Amino acid sequence: MTIDKTKVVYQIYPKSYKDTSGNGVGDLKGIIEKLPYLKELGIDMVWLNPFYPSPQRDNGYDISDYTAVNPLFGSMADFEEMVACGKELGIDFMLDMVLNHCSTEHEWFQKALAGDQYYQDFFILRDEPTDWLSKFGGNAWAPFGDTGKYYLHLFDQTQADLNWRNPHVREELFKVVNFWKDKGVKGFRFDVINLIGKDEILQDCPVNDGKPAYTDRPITHDYLKMMNRASFGGEAGFMTVGEMSATTIENCILYTAPDREELSMAFNFHHLKVDYKDGQKWTVMPFDFEALKDLFHTWGEGMSQGNGWNALFWNNHDQPRALNRFIDVKNFRNEGATMLAAAIHLSRGTPYIYMGEEIGMLDPDYDSMADYVDVESLNAYQELLAKGKSPAEAFEIIRAKSRDNSRTPMQWDASANAGFSSGTPWLKAGKSYPEINVEAEKQGQIFPFYQDLIRLRKRYPIIAEGDYRAAYKDSDKVYAFERHLGEEKLLVLNNFFAEDVDLELPQAYQGGEVLISNYDTQPLTDRITLKPYQTLAIIV
Ligand code: GLC
Repeated sequence: MTIDKTKVVYQIYPKSYKDTSGNGVGDLKGIIEKLPYLKELGIDMVWLNPFYPSPQRDNGYDISDYTAVNPLFGSMADFEEMVACGKELGIDFMLDMVLNHCSTEHEWFQKALAGDQYYQDFFILRDEPTDWLSKFGGNAWAPFGDTGKYYLHLFDQTQADLNWRNPHVREELFKVVNFWKDKGVKGFRFDVINLIGKDEILQDCPVNDGKPAYTDRPITHDYLKMMNRASFGGEAGFMTVGEMSATTIENCILYTAPDREELSMAFNFHHLKVDYKDGQKWTVMPFDFEALKDLFHTWGEGMSQGNGWNALFWNNHDQPRALNRFIDVKNFRNEGATMLAAAIHLSRGTPYIYMGEEIGMLDPDYDSMADYVDVESLNAYQELLAKGKSPAEAFEIIRAKSRDNSRTPMQWDASANAGFSSGTPWLKAGKSYPEINVEAEKQGQIFPFYQDLIRLRKRYPIIAEGDYRAAYKDSDKVYAFERHLGEEKLLVLNNFFAEDVDLELPQAYQGGEVLISNYDTQPLTDRITLKPYQTLAIIV
């Protein structure tokens, strides 16, 4: 099943979008209230992070009931109203399916703990743990009650990995997917889905914290095919995206090539590790432009040639804001935000906008560890101290890398709490909200630029359909690519630095039409100058 490639997805972290009840937590009614805003932006689909019942150890990625709405966010009636209101405006919903693990408070785990063997086989229990590490720190195995056995948790201890080898587990999970599909959603985002296929015999793996032992295992493709057949496969217009942890191009082609009937597209994270010192997240380092450019080219060309499909993004609820990572925001926030946007919206794949990105939101600039909530950040802080960092050094790292950076309340206006809530927000608003907020930015440069990019995608098939070719591969300042569709060609130049860059323009593009730029246009002769963080797209 092929998808509509003109579509653009907008990600909402429900907890932080708009609180209408005053409890400090965003809710579904708040999303309904803001649908006209999203219509104005022009997006087609909203991906919602989990809003299901959950103890919130990992902000809803620890689900205790897959087919209900957590009262914190509203009711099932609110959900149905949201879908109906969206439909009227031409906005569909994509839900987050967390099927690799469930909360240890889920009844399956509780029954298993109570001794029910049927449910014990829902989890991955072993007499001897392997040496794998949890992605949230520490060993990936925890004692299973007082049975003397251990259960696997690749994430927090309260997130128990499900045993996909058991057909009853698959059946239950496919029922969950169908439950929401029947409620009218048109898309799914599958959380860490390339980790579901565990080998029958689990072995120690000292490499890379054990990741190769459970990542992209061949059986994962079989499971995805089964799920596709049992649920969304064959539904016209349905969009599915897999979150792929530490994956490869080869696998992402297999996950997403239409004839494979697995998923529509895949998120990978390699381009967001280019500011990891020695591959380690909890470090601070300026981004490596060469690495970023090479990764974009390798993935762009590899997926294009292999007929795979990328989900394109700079931001999500797990990443600090890209503006803070890649741009001199003190001097060039507008230019940088628009350049980053064009660099992915004009590339080959489906673009995702993370709430607040369309107004150039920044990391919150918190002053103290007490402002952070995220379990991963709190664990990392303790680990950094244990490794000998001073509190000040550890804080600097958390400040740059915490997932809470993107989870702060959406900045609607300059009123208290950024207009997000009349109560006390569950996470403090970022310091920038008096200046950077929807009300102000609608008259600014970034929001209208996103609107233009979305419109262009719908008007020019080359943006949605064209293939991807690397350009100016040797430039140490400019990330550039071409798109080709039939006789048509598009060249996209993105200056990633706060300085002018002179370039030779290939003859084919001289005198071409400027499709979009974040600066006033210049004559397209044999030599051109890109201004700081300029993006320039030329079509011929
Ligand atoms: C994904 C989610 C992240 C969550 C993790 C475990 O990476 O995006 O927020 O913590 O999976 O479910």
